[in-house]
Amino acid sequence: RFTPTSADKFTFGLWTVGWRGNDPFGDATRPALDPVESVERLAELGAHGVTFHDDDLIPFGSSDSERTAIITRFKDALDRTGLKVPMATTNLFTHPVFKDGGFTSNDRDVRRYALRKVIRNIDLAVELGAETYVAWGGREGAESGGAKDVRVALDRMKEAFDLLGEYVVEQGYDLRFAIEPKPNEPRGDILLPTVGHALAFIERLERPEMYGVNPEVGHEQMAGLNFPHGIAQALWAGKLYHIDLNGQSGIKYDQDLRFGAGDLRQAFWLVDLLETSDYEGPRHFDFKPVRTDGIDGVWESAKNCMRNYLILKERALAFRADPAVQEALRASRLDELAQPTAEDGLKSLLADTTAFEEFDVTAAAERSMAFEALDQLAMEHLLGVR
Ligand code: GCO
Ligand code: MN
Ligand code: MN
Ligand code: MN
Repeated sequence: RFTPTSADKFTFGLWTVGWRGNDPFGDATRPALDPVESVERLAELGAHGVTFHDDDLIPFGSSDSERTAIITRFKDALDRTGLKVPMATTNLFTHPVFKDGGFTSNDRDVRRYALRKVIRNIDLAVELGAETYVAWGGREGAESGGAKDVRVALDRMKEAFDLLGEYVVEQGYDLRFAIEPKPNEPRGDILLPTVGHALAFIERLERPEMYGVNPEVGHEQMAGLNFPHGIAQALWAGKLYHIDLNGQSGIKYDQDLRFGAGDLRQAFWLVDLLETSDYEGPRHFDFKPVRTDGIDGVWESAKNCMRNYLILKERALAFRADPAVQEALRASRLDELAQPTAEDGLKSLLADTTAFEEFDVTAAAERSMAFEALDQLAMEHLLGVR
């Protein structure tokens, strides 16, 4: 029970289990992990796949021959374990050259270098079978008002994504982009800070169908937003191309806790939403095993990201299947919300005197929505007492 299989589509970034615990105030607390060991351990735990930034796999500055050797050895581990690579991404934030960003650095040479770095890794991503390419612009932003002309920077951001889209089409690749929003950290303010900003940006691109979002639980919650609501809108727009699952406790620094830690209620509603939606992509964990723990805590937390998802899935399915819940949903008129407001058309709405002239506003105002009873049922299912 609660033991994952490949069919659950759980995936992990190499940088998650591989995080050594270095933070702005302290050095690494754990030794480096060999990516091949990560592949083997994650396969044993029941994961479906791994993802990576170019530099997670191939250290920045490796020679071409070193790069080839690393890729060969990595592919061999994938073949042996059956692990997939459904997504890859680019590190445009660690090296000092990216201190003012990649796609929107004020330095044009850096922008051209960033695009070439991404394109090089897109080729590798496709070679390894990836269908999604994530773009997290952590360094695209500013700490002060005069430092960035945001409208012009957005022109450069659009230019970058349009060029990457053109490259993918020209190569005949079957690859879609997923933009990952974040409000701040490492920049004081990051461009495309929320799911909503990213969705609006995508519609301004030359080939909007090639781009969706990769929302991360903690990033929306850092902005005080409701993550399941953001995911619902992304699904509604047909733009949920990928997802980063983790945990966060309120509005503070990016905690990247294991999935299920932090805001448990939002985690419950998120799993309920994903499992009742048509989202068929990976359930990707982007978390950081706490730096207080040794390597034991790394594998313990990786295992429990998946376990917590499966526990919440069971809880959410039990909630939906409970006849008392179905009754409560009707009492709260969720079925009525699903009905169009004026399927009879504008003309007949205007002619309908019961809609306005004869409408009993007082009586309607008195009808309870009965949301408290419904929410208590959800809480009891979540707590496992029903
Ligand atoms: C964060 C980000 C990163 C990105 C990852 C993909 O926690 O700030 O989520 O972890 O997801 O680097 O580029
Ligand atoms: Mn994060
Ligand atoms: Mn992420
Ligand atoms: Mn992260």
